[in-house]
Amino acid sequence: MSIKNNTPKITLVGAGPGDKDLITLKGVKAIEQADCILYDALVNPEILEYAKKDTPLIYVGKRFNNHRLPQDEINQLLVTKALEFGNVVRLKGGDPFVFGRGSEEIDYIESYNIPTEIVPGISSSLAVPAMQGIPLTKRNVNESFWVITGTTSNGNISKDIKLGAQSSATLVILMGLRNFTLIMEEIKTYRNELTPFAIIQNGSLPNETIVIESIKNYKNTIDTIDYSSPGIIIIGDVVAEHTSFLDEEIQRVLNSSF
Ligand SMILES: C[S@@+](CC[C@H](N)C(=O)[O-])C[C@H]1O[C@@H](n2cnc3c(N)ncnc32)[C@H](O)[C@@H]1O
Repeated sequence: MSIKNNTPKITLVGAGPGDKDLITLKGVKAIEQADCILYDALVNPEILEYAKKDTPLIYVGKRFNNHRLPQDEINQLLVTKALEFGNVVRLKGGDPFVFGRGSEEIDYIESYNIPTEIVPGISSSLAVPAMQGIPLTKRNVNESFWVITGTTSNGNISKDIKLGAQSSATLVILMGLRNFTLIMEEIKTYRNELTPFAIIQNGSLPNETIVIESIKNYKNTIDTIDYSSPGIIIIGDVVAEHTSFLDEEIQRVLNSSF
């Protein structure tokens, strides 16, 4: 490896939920100044167009069957590339510190005394429901929201799903589609069965999809799930703020007036 005179530095940048315009200005500036970029599967490749011509762009993520590089190899690669190129940007989907393993990368990099910087991103957990008009909190409806993983490191659902189900919080579940039935059965045990939920996939992108159902009828939605695309599950009365509920109400009133 040729070591250049560039001072090594690594900036973790949140790329936002998918739409290329949902990255921060600070994130764009970091990409423009980068000497090398390592990016994940959920990063919209159009964002890489902000990079200088000839900047090495290294893809370190694959989804599902094609496994991504193991985390320790990514950590090592970051250090190697910072020593080789100097100013490295590590670009991650959403926000690097929301189920993004960003802090593990920071710990590793700092163990080599390489300076780091964090540029937060807009997490899919916030942006994806918002863009569908689903507020995570609404006065007199709920008092908190929980962002929970639907798949822990051992493949099981998080114990927090059971705890969250017993609260009145809006539940935003990431990485939950593969455990969807397990999750919904747990929720059904504690929540009112008429509570609505939504599954949003490819949020903020042109191929975004949304399905809305009541917990009681969750099985109706299983066949709509595309396991190869990212998706979040939102559970709680705030989902009724979605326009499709208004449409249904209008239809009900129209039908009853004849
Ligand atoms: C490893 S986590 C990373 C989350 C990311 N750090 C963030 O803040 O959005 C990946 C999960 O985020 C969710 N996700 C990310 N982007 C999404 C999108 N555009 N639409 C729906 N869900 C998304 C999915 O649940 C996906 O499995």
